[in-house]
Amino acid sequence: MCGITGYIGTRDAWPILIEGLKRLEYRGYDSAGVALVKKGAISVYKAKGKVADLENSAADKDLSGTAGIAHTRWATHGEPNTVNAHPHLSPSGRLAIVHNGIIENYSTIKSRLQEEGYVFRSTTDTEVLVYLIEYLMQKQGKNLLEAVQSALREVIGAYAIALADRDDPDMLIAARKSSPLVIGIGDGEFYVASDVSPIAGYTDRVVYPEDEEIAVLRRGVPLKIVNLMNEECSHEVRPVPENIGLTGKEGFPHFMLKEIYEQPDCIVDCMRGRVDTSLGTVRLSAVTENAERLSTAKRFIIVACGTSWHAGLIGKQYLETFCRVPVEVAYASEFRYSNPVIDDSDVVIAISQSGETADTLAAIELAKSRGAFIYGICNVVGSSIARATDTGSYIHVGPEVGVASTKAFTGQVAVLLLLALNLAEVKGTMKPEAYHSTVKALLEIPDKMREVLKSDKGIAELSRTFTYAHNFIYLGRGFSYPVALEGALKLKEISYIHAEGYPAAEMKHGPIALIDTEMPVVFIATKNTMYEKILSNVQEIKARKGRVLAVVTSGDKVISAVADNVLDVPETLECLDPLLVSIPLQLLAYHIAVCKGKDVDRPRNLAKSVTVE
Ligand code: F6R
Repeated sequence: MCGITGYIGTRDAWPILIEGLKRLEYRGYDSAGVALVKKGAISVYKAKGKVADLENSAADKDLSGTAGIAHTRWATHGEPNTVNAHPHLSPSGRLAIVHNGIIENYSTIKSRLQEEGYVFRSTTDTEVLVYLIEYLMQKQGKNLLEAVQSALREVIGAYAIALADRDDPDMLIAARKSSPLVIGIGDGEFYVASDVSPIAGYTDRVVYPEDEEIAVLRRGVPLKIVNLMNEECSHEVRPVPENIGLTGKEGFPHFMLKEIYEQPDCIVDCMRGRVDTSLGTVRLSAVTENAERLSTAKRFIIVACGTSWHAGLIGKQYLETFCRVPVEVAYASEFRYSNPVIDDSDVVIAISQSGETADTLAAIELAKSRGAFIYGICNVVGSSIARATDTGSYIHVGPEVGVASTKAFTGQVAVLLLLALNLAEVKGTMKPEAYHSTVKALLEIPDKMREVLKSDKGIAELSRTFTYAHNFIYLGRGFSYPVALEGALKLKEISYIHAEGYPAAEMKHGPIALIDTEMPVVFIATKNTMYEKILSNVQEIKARKGRVLAVVTSGDKVISAVADNVLDVPETLECLDPLLVSIPLQLLAYHIAVCKGKDVDRPRNLAKSVTVE
């Protein structure tokens, strides 16, 4: 993963780079570093930890300079420490590089350079690349651009890089392949970043270089983009998408809590312009524009990772129930290497909050190469996945900063529901009464979510009684099974408590052996077609003295009498339960993590955007 940023112009580079890194910190926060270029020198500042640690450690240093590159890291090769932090210098110290991605053949290149007598300082793949570039300059007399082209022709893997040259302080070079890169064009100045957020506010003109393109950023000179064969490439200058930039916590102690609370408004935003409240109908422009292609699809395949994959499992149930079309849900990371049987009669739905997830992007490319039509469901406007798809619908939930996904999940579920409803109407596969009652019930969801949020204080108190636990089990059935998976994922990623989600009836096939008085079992036991079955599953756990926390429908008496603790949600249609039930599970995970003193917004070992496979 990692975030890169760069600046060259007439202003002080340091504050721009530091601000940019803060906006990119969602991509990783193991270590951070900046290289400032001045005539005759490159000054490098690095620190283990977050960007704020870098700022503190450099507070008393000379930070002048109008060009520089910077990096916030999520370690892949080499432990997170100052030596492995970027920027990395070439052997002579002439060049500095920052890199997001993985150079897969770095060890072969490294051995070759070691045989030539080069000694490496770090254990990163990135340092190998800058050594190779300088080697090509020294041994083959190439200039920097030629050496970069030659080196990038040799490397296998993914990269977004920015390079600074001590001997040419008026130029930065940036290049990409399979990792995101945006160039901002200002007045006689350029910005480089992994996404537009560090650029927003400085300029509204950006260029997205394509794979294997190199941007030559010379102070005061127009942007030049060339490919690895040195052919000049045309480029489209685009506006910065709206609503980009830093969001604050707005009085909440953490972004995650703020984002949990935003969900009612997010669902309203998600429906805006798509749900006609007076007619009770749904229109997604992507469906209207591609009605024929979507309605004649023989099969849908949903590809996604993590939380987005969980949303996909719910989307499958929507599409199969309402549109009577077979749907498969695949982990993008498995799909991309699976040689799938897929052709132009298939529609692939790629779900991604960030729109940058490397595995999902690769799954899209594979599906595209076999003729499938690609429908994207993303949050980040203009992201790589949004640009790689044939059509799609944004979830419009606004920037999600907390690493644990919350509002994006419910936004994805809402958009999948809208898609299924719209398509069902086009295909005529849903009875009008069922269609209209589902739309009506969806319109009531934001208020019902507000109702659920009122249980926050109670959940905070209850959470204190769970900090002893080392394991949790989450159980649900039907529409609630993916919510159980998602609840377990939320808990483990921010509290570091091991948690598993299961379809409730699977317990007796093995996992029930885990149940004892210490084991909390979270049941999603709302009033729906599965209620009686879930009740039996609750009894099975109680008979083995497990501690049951049940999420029930308000007014429930039966399961409430058996469970040790209950959290209630307002009644809704069974298919809409996930939108309500997710909230108490998010709050439970949040408060348990807070009680345990964890860094809720930036849990260990994680990053918000997973741009490595
Ligand atoms: C968990 C979480 C991750 C992401 C996954 C995919 O809270 O956020 O599991 O869902 O990394 O990310 P996107 O949706 O950006 O493709």
